[in-house]
Amino acid sequence: MVRLFTGLEIPADLAEALGMLRGGLPGARWIDAENYHLTLRFIGDIDDRLAQDVALLLRQVRRPSFDLRLGGLASFGGRRPRAVVAAVEPGTPLLELQAEHERLLRRAGLEPEGRKFTPHVTLARLRDSSSRQVADYLATRGYFRSRSFAVSRFVLFSAKASVGGGPYVVEEAYPLMRDRQEALV
Ligand code: 2AM
Repeated sequence: MVRLFTGLEIPADLAEALGMLRGGLPGARWIDAENYHLTLRFIGDIDDRLAQDVALLLRQVRRPSFDLRLGGLASFGGRRPRAVVAAVEPGTPLLELQAEHERLLRRAGLEPEGRKFTPHVTLARLRDSSSRQVADYLATRGYFRSRSFAVSRFVLFSAKASVGGGPYVVEEAYPLMRDRQEALV
C-alpha cells in the first residue's frame, strides 16, 4: 500500500518566504518548508497495482502551464481551527487541471472526492490553538502575498501512510504544455 496525492510543488524561494511565517502561534505544528505543496487530488492509501495505473493515467493530462500566486493567510476549521494555510487565488487553468484529475481518478475506480476543492498550502496543523490565538497570529502575519510563479508541471506525491505528514516524495512529474495550442492537440 502506498499513500498518494497529486499536487503542485512550491518554488524554493517562495517556500523560504513562507517558512519565515512560522512561529508565534501556540499549539501549531509547523510544516517543514521543503514539504510545502498544493494538493490537487488526495488519493489515499491504495495498492501498488492501482498506484501504477494511476501514475500511467495521469500521463494523459494535456493542460496548459499557468501562473499562480499565493495570497493571504487563513485558517481552516472556524471556531475550532485545525490548520493555518496560505490561500491560493484560483484561476481557471488550476480549476480545470484539478477537475481533470478528479475525472481521471474516478475512471481509475477511486471514490469521488466529496469535498469542494479549496486550493491552499498548509503551513501548520493546529492541536489546541484557540480561535483568538489564531486571529492574533493572522492579524500580524496574514498580509502575506507571494510573487506570481509559473506552474510548468504537476506531480504525483507519496506520503508515509503511517505518519500522515511529510516527507513527501515525488513519484512522477508530469509536464504542462507551454502554450494552449499544444495543450489542446
Ligand atoms: P492539507 O494540506 O489540507 O492537510 C497529504 O496528506 C496531503 O493531502 C495534505 O496536503 C492534505 O491536505 C491532503 N489531504 C486531503 N484530504 C486528505 C485526507 N482525507 N487525509 C489526509 N490528507 C488529505
